[in-house]
Amino acid sequence: MRYLAFLFVNAVFYSLAAKIKQTFQFMKKILLATGGGDCPGLNAVIRAIVKSAKKHGGYEVYGSIEAFNGVLSDPLQIVKLTPKKVAGIHVRGGTIIKTTNKGNPLTYPTQLPDGTWTTRNICADLTKKIQDLGFDAVVNIGGDGSQKISQVLFEQGLNIIGVPKTIDNDLSATDLTFGFSTAVQIATDSFDKLVTTAESHHRVMLMEVMGRDAGWIALHTAIAGGAEICLIPEIQYDIKKVVQKINKRYEKGKGFVNIVIAEGAMPLDGKAFGVKSKDIGDEHVKLGGIANFLKHQIEESGCSAQVRTTVLGHIQRGGTPIAFDRILATAMGVKAFELIETNDFGKMVTFRNNGISCVDIKEAIKAPKLLSLDHYLVRTAKSIGVSFGD
Ligand code: F6P
Repeated sequence: MRYLAFLFVNAVFYSLAAKIKQTFQFMKKILLATGGGDCPGLNAVIRAIVKSAKKHGGYEVYGSIEAFNGVLSDPLQIVKLTPKKVAGIHVRGGTIIKTTNKGNPLTYPTQLPDGTWTTRNICADLTKKIQDLGFDAVVNIGGDGSQKISQVLFEQGLNIIGVPKTIDNDLSATDLTFGFSTAVQIATDSFDKLVTTAESHHRVMLMEVMGRDAGWIALHTAIAGGAEICLIPEIQYDIKKVVQKINKRYEKGKGFVNIVIAEGAMPLDGKAFGVKSKDIGDEHVKLGGIANFLKHQIEESGCSAQVRTTVLGHIQRGGTPIAFDRILATAMGVKAFELIETNDFGKMVTFRNNGISCVDIKEAIKAPKLLSLDHYLVRTAKSIGVSFGD
């Protein structure tokens, strides 16, 4: 009898052990990375992927801290993302796995023995390291720069999915990116606050918003906020036309003017205002200063009205995502997981024609999405009297 009991316990033990081994052997590992500037909605994407993975079963999700720097650093900076860890984070701005615009693996900064810095492409090493760590799939959440990295890693053999992110909304493959609508809401709320001062003091109020190559935030804010002038990177402005519009508003007595200007806007035959970043590994030119330059131009033109400038800056990227962005980010996270499930790698999630789908990353990174003169919102703005300085 005791012998039979011994056999039974033994059998149960070994079958349990085999089950545990089997489960862990087939547990797939997903690595998430968020790269580039932070953006409201990143956390909602992370949460959606973790929750989808949990619901599906058979997956573990990890996050590389500060884009791929977490994988490259020694010791590794990779955190396990459990449903408990991501609970409720969809309402929070920023990204719980941090982000950076330093350390692009295509031009990775490397210090030479003489102390000077050079760059090298470390994508092959990065791919190998991620694979050696046992990750079956990677989701890279980021803008055009990040998706260019995704494409190279995909070509190196990495199972990667891209999720588009940018408040600038300038990715051509997707009608909208999460974070953009939140940025427009913040900019519009701020603009409304400046309008009251413009009216009360008969001033020209200038608000500089983000928008490196594209004027999506500026244009949406101009229409929603009721600006008289909207200056965007796609249309070089003629200062004479801008001053004409301002003077017209003051001709009939005490007027006021509200202007929204994208950071990447530029005067005729001019170039965008900015300075090269001093940070090692950050190749971006930091834009800013066009509003103050325009103020100077308006004052030089002899305009007697007082001109004030506000540079909105990173306020536009901060705080909680609005409901729409939480929803869009969640839907994109779920789609990213579905693409992993179907082994559909090398794809970037998109939002087009009111639906979620995907495109090849190499298509998505071909060209930025810029405003054209015949875009319906440019025509809308022009029809209600908004000047683009053209
Ligand atoms: O690309 C998004 C963006 O917000 C741009 O509009 C802006 O020029 C840039 O990031 C600012 O980057 P940083 O956070 O490095 O100053």
